[in-house]
Order: sequence, then structure tokens, then C-alpha cells
Amino acid sequence: MALRNILTYEEDVLHKVCREVTEFDSKLATLLDDMHETLTESGGVGLAAPQIGILRRVVVAEYDDQYYELINPVIVEKKGSQRVVEGCLSCPGQNCVLTRPQKVTVKAKNRFGEDVKYLFSGFWAKLACHEIDHLDGVLIIDIKEKFYDPKTDKNLK
Ligand code: CO
Repeated sequence: MALRNILTYEEDVLHKVCREVTEFDSKLATLLDDMHETLTESGGVGLAAPQIGILRRVVVAEYDDQYYELINPVIVEKKGSQRVVEGCLSCPGQNCVLTRPQKVTVKAKNRFGEDVKYLFSGFWAKLACHEIDHLDGVLIIDIKEKFYDPKTDKNLK
């Protein structure tokens, strides 16, 4: 396994649409393992492949002792809404206020190319949406309602 360099929003690669994964091979496994290690080292909760310069639809996320690998993820259902504060490893120091669904159903593949389906709610719903946005070149600073202000947005964080 190897640590990868996390890119920030100035890089073009973070604003592009990623391609689907078609080969579920050892190269993909290495990418996933490297992404997991890089995420752990970063102290973050989610990492998408374009954040390490790879234009593929691959996401890893880990929070509260749960770890997911999402390959070619698609949100097939959204329910409700929540106003949230989000940060991003690629937008250091720029916390944003935005609105996300309260619940999302995500269909994806696992590292073996098998179909998986997850229902995410609350924190996990916003995390899944945030990471899947990365695969379409969308960052929180592109879709924010405003930057987070701890003085006026006390209830949001
Ligand atoms: Co991010």
C-alpha cells in the first residue's frame, strides 16, 4: 500500500467528470487500498479518486467504525432534506453550508464487481452525496449556500 497525495481545488482534475470502472482487477484493489490508507492518514471521512488525480468513479468512506467502498455509485433515491456543514480535504479551511437529502439509496459495485445497495441516512447521506459529487467534478465550494460562519450558524455544527 502507498499513501497518495491529496490534490486541492486549484487542480483541473477535481473539476472533471470521472469515467466508470470496467476492470475489477488487482489494479483497482491497489487503488482502493491506497485510498483507504490515504484517507486514514488524512483524518478525513471520505475520499474520491479524483482527489488523488485518478479520473475513475471510485469512493472510499469511513466513519464511526463503518467503512464503505463504492465503485460506479449512483444515487437511485433521495428522501427529505437536511441543512449541513461540510468540509473537504480538497478545500482546506473552507467549511460550507449546504442542503443535502436526509436519506439516499445508493447502488454501486464492490471491489469484486458485485452489485451492492446501501441506504444511507443523516451524516452518512451527506457523506455519500459529497463523495459522489466529486465523481462529477462538483465541489462544496461550487454548490454551497454560503461559507460556514460559526457566529451565525451555531446550530449547524
Ligand atoms: Co471532498
